[in-house]
Amino acid sequence: MKTILVTGGAGYIGSHTVLALLEKKYEVIVVDNFVNSSKKALARVEKLTGKKIKLYELDCCDKVKFSQVFKENKIDAVIHFAGLKAVGESVNVPLKYYENNLFSTINLLNLMQEYKVYNIAFSSSATVYGEPKSVPIYEDFELHISNPYGRTKLIIEDILRDFSKVNPEFNIAILRYFNPIGAHPSGLIGENPNGIPNNLVPYITQVAVGKLKELGVFGNDYPTKDGTCIRDYIHVCDLAEGHILALNKLFSKCGLVTYNLGTGKGYSVLEVIKAMEKAVGKPIPYSFKPRRAGDIPECYASPVKAETELGFKAKYSLEDMARDSWNWQKNNPNGYDE
Ligand code: NAD
Ligand code: WQD
Repeated sequence: MKTILVTGGAGYIGSHTVLALLEKKYEVIVVDNFVNSSKKALARVEKLTGKKIKLYELDCCDKVKFSQVFKENKIDAVIHFAGLKAVGESVNVPLKYYENNLFSTINLLNLMQEYKVYNIAFSSSATVYGEPKSVPIYEDFELHISNPYGRTKLIIEDILRDFSKVNPEFNIAILRYFNPIGAHPSGLIGENPNGIPNNLVPYITQVAVGKLKELGVFGNDYPTKDGTCIRDYIHVCDLAEGHILALNKLFSKCGLVTYNLGTGKGYSVLEVIKAMEKAVGKPIPYSFKPRRAGDIPECYASPVKAETELGFKAKYSLEDMARDSWNWQKNNPNGYDE
């Protein structure tokens, strides 16, 4: 059975992917420094699967400690989730983002080369497209970045493209996620933001559970069907499945490949609120606020390339995503904190 190293495996997408990997009988090693996650997520994945996860608590920027993982294990592939992801924070403390996201990745690639581990899936983001010329967004669209977080993703993509040209033995999957929401249907693992959430759905669920008073909807004058922004929300379990399919692709010796992981459907903020109200069974108080700097009106994927080449097709509907987001929040009003 193959062994997969998952950096950032205790995080939101990482924990769901670790669960999916264990269910598919992969051996999993997690590296995480818990800067934005909890050990309880991994304990719950172990509980759900009845399997043990080998954990290294370390910072991927610490190359000496990180090298131990490669010395002590025979790794077949890496899924590289580790990174900081808060767009607003990245504007205020850009060096923290460049340092963490770039150094960790460069260390990882050096170690993979040294220990002859030739397969990697990298967590990129739809943010690399900036404001697209049209929707749906295809993988060959021009890339435009408007914030330091997004720039770290684009720089890493560029590093991977440069690296791939001179290291043809490497198989590299650049996966551009759209807007992951939802949680495992068990309600045991989910998204656990620090402080007040920046993202729409965690904000709504915290309003619904009574931790926040009301949602501010950022802008109702966009040129969209109801004036609010359109996004491609994808269930985190669908995203996890996308990583399993990406591994199959890597093991077929694909070289460098790039895929959107989205559903191909766009929903407005008001449609998401409506779906959440249905899941929660009561109205979500909200009011319109000015536009948020940096938001684009419309963003949704063309899922065709991932479907054709990976066999990836999102299964969960917006209704499923709303139900599972709420199930997680209501069972864990304080996330992983007791
Ligand atoms: P997350 O913060 O929940 O998970 C990231 C994990 O990486 C955390 O467990 C954190 O503790 C760990 N980590 C961060 N820096 C580290 C370091 N230097 N060494 C070791 N561990 C480190 O985030 P997520 O939502 O699960 O996102 C996973 C990846 O996907 C990130 O790279 C993120 O940028 C990318 N992504 C996320 C989204 C999203 O909306 N959630 C969208 C597109 C791309
Ligand atoms: C969705 C919509 C907001 C909060 C972000 C990152 C992106 C990627 C995914 C990592 C927008 C509106 C939100 C609120 C609101 N992450 N909104 N009130 O901005 O599409 O993408 O997460 O790579 O890089 O930028 O997601 O959930 O923040 O916003 O009205 O309190 O909800 O304006 O239209 P976004 P989001």
